[in-house]
Amino acid sequence: MGRAEKVVLAYSGGVDTSVCIPYLKEEWGVKEVITLAADLGQGEELKPIQSKALKCGAVESLVEDAKETFVKEYAFPAIQANTLYENRYPLSTALARPLIAKLLVEAAEKYGADAVAHGCTGKGNDQVRFDVGIMALNPNLKVLAPAREWGMSREEAITYGEKFGMEFPVKKSSPYSIDRNLLGRSIEAGPLEDPMTEPPEEVFVMTKAIADTPNEPEYIEIGFERGIPVSINGNQLNPVELITQLNEIVGNHGFGRIDMIENRVVGIKSREIYETPALLALINAHRDLESLTLTADITNYKQGIEQTYSELIYRGLWYSPLKEALDAFIQKTQERVSGSVRIKLFKGNATIVGRKSANSIYTPDLATYGAEDKFDHKAAEGFIYIWGLPTRVWAEKTK
Ligand code: ARG
Repeated sequence: MGRAEKVVLAYSGGVDTSVCIPYLKEEWGVKEVITLAADLGQGEELKPIQSKALKCGAVESLVEDAKETFVKEYAFPAIQANTLYENRYPLSTALARPLIAKLLVEAAEKYGADAVAHGCTGKGNDQVRFDVGIMALNPNLKVLAPAREWGMSREEAITYGEKFGMEFPVKKSSPYSIDRNLLGRSIEAGPLEDPMTEPPEEVFVMTKAIADTPNEPEYIEIGFERGIPVSINGNQLNPVELITQLNEIVGNHGFGRIDMIENRVVGIKSREIYETPALLALINAHRDLESLTLTADITNYKQGIEQTYSELIYRGLWYSPLKEALDAFIQKTQERVSGSVRIKLFKGNATIVGRKSANSIYTPDLATYGAEDKFDHKAAEGFIYIWGLPTRVWAEKTK
């Protein structure tokens, strides 16, 4: 008896996931491996990946274009929640995992598989997100993670694959581990493992070096409806187009790089470099529009929700009752978050320089320092007497 009969494997076309195919069959007695590659805008041709999977011994090779779902159902809610893990990482990689988990489970159900598999090792966050996501969606499916158990180095994995007639073109091997999708790139390992080493310019693809950015600022206006970005400079765009174009525009000015030491779920600190031009600019713009349209107490309370929401995405709890409950709160807050935000892009900055909304609760009559002022200055005195009373009493007793 093998570990499973029929398995749907998350497939990227790389060495590890390719070697998983013969490994699952030969070592773990799996009868049929179906591979699934999700197109999340990683900018790779998926057709060759499809034939590669079949060559490696898969019975079926599925490719799913999930770009629109990715942006609409995963990125947009995160923007509405202004999610930044540890106040900095907009979760560009983390958001893709629950979607891939969902595609795996759907395929397993459709093809009658009794297990799903992925190529994650035992040290990262992604294994947590896949495993927990899958068990949340279908607790009866087994999850197989060969690379977590096989104990092979990369070279050994290549040798193993070659035994089964697999060919690995000798491409210039990169010292980096890179994950990429429409929302951004995550880069780690190699020289970056020294936290004091500046990331070499070669790791960046979506964002220009400051020295190469335009010498004139560029202004853009992002339109939002109920907290969702819908237009750039007045042009309504579909979700995928909007992110794609914005990555270009913002990356061209060198904005969107992050260099951080982060705390992984498995307890390890890791040094990660990110470039997420559109996503980071959108979160900043969205938060700004909220400041114009939400009450002070909602804004303050929402910050705690946002932190919890960021953590649950990072920690693999996308499909959890807590996430659903927080969604209800967040969606309610977004009802009036419509309007537009003006951003000035220049030399690595995306500075918000203006915002407007038909739902603005900014009140010029109250805010102004001019003659039109409607604020009742005398009322401040009584307010301060009561507001400061506990402090006065305390001071009188202790000073
Ligand atoms: N640290 C990021 C996260 O947990 C990215 C993980 C994948 N990174 C990579 N370079 N392969 O979401």
